Amino acid sequence: MRMLFLGDVVGRPGRDVVTSLLPGLVADWALDFVAVNGENAAGGFGITEAIYDDLRAAGADAVTLGNHSFDQREALVFIERAPHLLRPANYPAGTPGRGAALVEAKNGANVLVLNLMGRTFMDPLDDPFAAVDRALEGAELGRVADAVLIDFHAETTSEKQAFGHYCDGRASLVVGTHTHVPTADHRILAGGTAFMTDVGMCGSYEGVIGMDKEEPIRRFIRKLPSARFEPAGGAGTLSGVAVETDDATGLAVRIAPVRIGGALAPALPDFWG
Ligand SMILES: [Fe+2]
Ligand SMILES: [Fe+2]
Repeated sequence: MRMLFLGDVVGRPGRDVVTSLLPGLVADWALDFVAVNGENAAGGFGITEAIYDDLRAAGADAVTLGNHSFDQREALVFIERAPHLLRPANYPAGTPGRGAALVEAKNGANVLVLNLMGRTFMDPLDDPFAAVDRALEGAELGRVADAVLIDFHAETTSEKQAFGHYCDGRASLVVGTHTHVPTADHRILAGGTAFMTDVGMCGSYEGVIGMDKEEPIRRFIRKLPSARFEPAGGAGTLSGVAVETDDATGLAVRIAPVRIGGALAPALPDFWG
C-alpha cells in the first residue's frame, strides 16, 4: 500500500497548501491512504466541521488531532458524527469522539488509525504505552488490519522515539506530530515499522511553529501576552512522510520525507515515479 501522512495543518497557509496539492498527489502517486493531522487547522487552534470536510474532500481518509482537539467548541459535537476524525485515545473515559478507527482505504484495505498523546511536558493523560497495547490487541497487523498508522502527538523527541520502538513490528508507520518541525530521521525500524520523530507541519515556516513571529518573540522577552497568536503569513509548506507497505505483512518497505512549497528545501519520494 502507498500511504501519505501529513503533519499538523496550521491555519490558512496550511489548509491552502494541502487542499491545492493533495488531490494531485493522490492521483500522481496512486495513494491508497492519506492521513492528516488537523489539530491547528482553524486559525492555529482546533478544527471546525467545514475544515474537516475540506480536508476529507481533498483526499484525507483520516484526520488526527492532539492537544488542540477541542479548541473549537463545535468539535465536541461534530466529532461524534465524523467517524474518520480521531482525538488522542488516552484522553479520559467519556471524552467525545474516538482515538482509534478502522478506516477503509481507497483500495478497499482496512487501515487501523490510532492517535495518542505523549505525557512529557504535556497534559497528564492516561499512559499512552498501555493505551496502544489495548488498541492493538484485537487488531493485529497483517490479519485484522492491512496497515496500522499511529500518530503519536508529543513534545519530546525521546518520548516519540521510545514510543516508535515500543510499537516496532506492530504498526506500519509511527509518526510524531506536535512540534511542527520535520526531523531528518525517517527510517524503517528493525521490526519493520516506518518511523519519523516529527513529520513537521503543513503551514508557513516564516513564523514560529506556524504562528506569526512577533507575538512569540515578545512573550519570550517580556513573559507577558500582549496579543493573540495568529498564523504566520507567507506560502505554506506541505510537510509529511510517504510510506509503502508490504501487502502480506503490512510492514513498511520504503519511507521518504515529503516537503513541497514554501520556505523549506523540497523533498519527494524517488520510488513512486
Ligand atoms: Fe500542532
Ligand atoms: Fe499539538
